[in-house]
Amino acid sequence: MKDRVLIFDTTLRDGEQALPASLSVGQKIRIARQLARLKVDVIEAGFPISSPGDFVSVQTIAREVKGPIICGLARAVEKDILSCAAAVRPAKRPRIHTFLGTSTIHREKKLRRTQEECLAMVAAAVKLARSKCGDVEFSAEDAGRTERDFLCKVVETAIKHGARTVNIPDTVGYTTPEIFASIIDDLRNRVPNIDKAILAVHCHNDLGLATSNSITAVKHGARQVECTVNGIGERAGNAALEEVVMIMNVRRDYLNVTCGVDTTEIMRTSKLVRDVCSMPVQPNKAVVGGNAFAHSSGIHQDGVLKAKATYEIMTPESIGLKENKMNLTGRSGSHMVKNRLQSLGYAEKDIDLATFYPKFKALADKKGTVYDDDLVALMEAPTIEEIGDAYRLEYLNVTGGTGVIPTATVRIARDGKIEQEAASGDGVVDAATKAIDRVVGYDIRIKDYHLDAISEGREAQGRVKIVAVAPEGTFTGVGTSTDIVEASAKAYMDVVNKIARMRKYAPHLRGKRARARL
Ligand code: KIV
Ligand code: ZN
Repeated sequence: MKDRVLIFDTTLRDGEQALPASLSVGQKIRIARQLARLKVDVIEAGFPISSPGDFVSVQTIAREVKGPIICGLARAVEKDILSCAAAVRPAKRPRIHTFLGTSTIHREKKLRRTQEECLAMVAAAVKLARSKCGDVEFSAEDAGRTERDFLCKVVETAIKHGARTVNIPDTVGYTTPEIFASIIDDLRNRVPNIDKAILAVHCHNDLGLATSNSITAVKHGARQVECTVNGIGERAGNAALEEVVMIMNVRRDYLNVTCGVDTTEIMRTSKLVRDVCSMPVQPNKAVVGGNAFAHSSGIHQDGVLKAKATYEIMTPESIGLKENKMNLTGRSGSHMVKNRLQSLGYAEKDIDLATFYPKFKALADKKGTVYDDDLVALMEAPTIEEIGDAYRLEYLNVTGGTGVIPTATVRIARDGKIEQEAASGDGVVDAATKAIDRVVGYDIRIKDYHLDAISEGREAQGRVKIVAVAPEGTFTGVGTSTDIVEASAKAYMDVVNKIARMRKYAPHLRGKRARARL
């Protein structure tokens, strides 16, 4: 029987602490409900003494979210512990998590306490917490830089006074896997009552080692890992939940442990945290980044088409994604292009790769990424030159701001004629797209809108990517500008031009592409 590792999620406490603005109670509840669906073992819902809002959030989560243990954080002082106890009380399974800085720098500079005074504080805090709640966790803050003998005494004291979980945080991300392993080994070998508590770890990512340190600790006997969704948290963040969990899944052979997380909820949770916290996820982020299941190189695409396991160590389905992504670029081989055309509905006999593939390469050189709609246009248009743009945005003027109805005026050229229209909307981008709709007369619904800064500073270039659905199909448009409204209008015009091409060259495919995968 494999050992169970508990997943302690601190997205709503350590993660939230690093956001530019606190989350509202409603936002925290949404995330907490999803964490319960993800089946984490413990939700650290907040730090009740830190603000009245946080107290209410913890209390509401304790009352309303069923399944995981609901935990609150408290410094090792009476008022924090009492506030935390009151906040977590409504939970079916409440936990008080109390902590004290134990390293020399924390003791001497921050707390101005001797080792003996700190030990007395640990004893008193844990005792008080246990008198209020049956489940108490103690953390030796900055354990990664705490003298080994003293850390052993702290842990022994916390357990002696009733801590059921003792957490060893690498608060400043200073330790390395081997050193962290030796800390865990020492605690397991030298603390006489260590078997009376669960050993937990909580690693920060200042040197990019949070996940490695956590996993190494598991290998050495830690049985609770504290982590956050997308790795958000103080400074460079915490160990990322999705990484820790997927390592335990993918390398079960090596770690010999299990956890209770439903991995198929990982992607949904990651997106929710990204959106609610307004914290974008870098495209190359392990497990949940936009490129984590995308294959770009021709050799890789060819390999994956032959056997997915050549370049995929876990399936996209295992984290709740529908499928992997094959980016069509100049690096894609003809095998990949043919495969994509077939998945778009073209029969083998209709694909003349010898003539099509050079056209594809020429378009890829011009555009970078070739989307499915580009591919269809290229298949249907007689020559690559003929897939130019039918509509051109000549002029865009928007008015917006506080107390003003957002409006936009556009002038669009087609076949030497210029048409002008104006519209109002929910915002200036909405107004601009509505004005464009009035000129072109298409029925377009934006399904996905994504803005990225592609350079830094005030004059940063914004890149907008729009995925839109029309009766003709699903289309991806991209636009770039230093002005995000203009970038949005350009992306929308890209969609408009793709629809125009579809209408001109492939009216017989109308609607079919709507079902094709993007
Ligand atoms: O990083 C840390 O030490 C913490 C503790 C409060 C557990 O977040
Ligand atoms: Zn922390």
